[in-house]
Amino acid sequence: MTNRIITDEKAELILDGKTYHLPVIMGTEGEKAIDIKSLRAQTGYITMDSGFMNTGACCSSITFLDGEEGVLSYRGYGIEELAENCTFVEVSYLLDNGCLPSQEQLSNFSQMLGKYAMIHEDMIRFFDGFPPNSPPMAILSSMVNSLCSFYPDMLDNPLENIDKMAARLLSKVRTIAAFSYKKSMGQPLVYPRHDLSYCANFLNMMFDSPVKPYEVDDTVVKALNKLLILHGDHEQNCSTSTVRVVGSARVNLYASISAGINALWGPLHGGANQAVMEMLDKIHMEGGNFKKYIERAKDPNDPFRLVGFGHRVYKTHDPRARIIKKACEDVLNALNVKDPLLDIARELEAVALSDEYFIERNLYPNVDFYSGIIYRAIGIPTNMFTVMFALGRLPGWIAHWKEMWDDPDWRISRPRQIYVGHKRRPFVPIERRTGCV
Ligand code: ACO
Repeated sequence: MTNRIITDEKAELILDGKTYHLPVIMGTEGEKAIDIKSLRAQTGYITMDSGFMNTGACCSSITFLDGEEGVLSYRGYGIEELAENCTFVEVSYLLDNGCLPSQEQLSNFSQMLGKYAMIHEDMIRFFDGFPPNSPPMAILSSMVNSLCSFYPDMLDNPLENIDKMAARLLSKVRTIAAFSYKKSMGQPLVYPRHDLSYCANFLNMMFDSPVKPYEVDDTVVKALNKLLILHGDHEQNCSTSTVRVVGSARVNLYASISAGINALWGPLHGGANQAVMEMLDKIHMEGGNFKKYIERAKDPNDPFRLVGFGHRVYKTHDPRARIIKKACEDVLNALNVKDPLLDIARELEAVALSDEYFIERNLYPNVDFYSGIIYRAIGIPTNMFTVMFALGRLPGWIAHWKEMWDDPDWRISRPRQIYVGHKRRPFVPIERRTGCV
């Protein structure tokens, strides 16, 4: 369902003395857009919008977010209620199918996740080929890309088989993530178990060992469910747009998701959760002098940014950050963990929120600011944080790929440009070239 309302409004555009009328469309929450589909054909002009700050690339019925009000909902349900009342598996079902599952649908879906949890034994050998200390995001994207070689059976009619492909991905990415950690630690792999829930299974694959069996802790399972739910989708962010752009060339789901994983890796996007912890750790090691970092962030001649602050869309508190901050305090209390980085994070936030520089630019803590402290408290190593983000974002990527594939307005993504290079010039034979100087 990607219906838009075509309003009676028209945008008037005057160019070269001529007036053009462009249709205005509206979404279900009242957001409006000028439909410029016919702009170039009618006027010969294109629009210029670097970073796509004002460009809508599609209509979507998956996630609504209002960056001015700090509102976020998946399929019409508020993120706060979903994070409080659901498991990640329920929310994945919601994102990918459009409705919350009934008890029966949930147990069928959970069974599918159990059935697809193993990865082909030949794929397990791939882990041996990566050098020690390989970035887990590199391993994850390579492994996900390879899934289409091992499971090609569903590539021909993807929409007919999307439920199975989604379950396969959700289940196997969890296994791949845990295996990559075990390999990096030089420990034996722990296989998935049918009797454990999605998150408990992941934690068991990460932390069980022949010498010390892992005991599933409800507080940790709940915290993980919450974190993954909060990362489930975020409309047309960089990695999701990547999945859509790659998929628009009719690329299979596995390869499109692999591309999304690579986009997420960047420190300005999903990689920020790791960067936040590294920054907090550095401040801690230097005796807690966070004011120096505030000054550096404000200095126009210093490229340093306060990681975990600011967002392209939110110009107020990120609603996910609010929930995560509270969860962070609850989890640390429940587990009786004292983390000095939490104190530094709180102080940094308080100072930044009362500083003119941050106030003027609407820079608030984002989803990545507190999530790492929870991950650390539950034993996830820092270099796995962005992998955790990918695991959470997976149902969102799948939902967008599916929606894009089924969209009657689908076109291959192909932006235009304004060329600013050399004008046409005569070819120079090699004997007469001066080369680049
Ligand atoms: N610290 C200091 N200054 C900042 C920060 C920051 N974290 N973020 C933005 N600014 C400043 C910029 O320097 C700029 O100032 P100026 O107007 O004086 O030049 C102004 O705020 C606007 O910044 P832009 O870069 O234009 O904002 P944009 O929307 O392009 O960037 C981004 C958003 C990339 C998230 C940015 O805020 C940032 O780099 N934050 C730190 C990295 C981070 O936490 N990323 C995770 C984002 S959430 C996610 O992807 C899951």
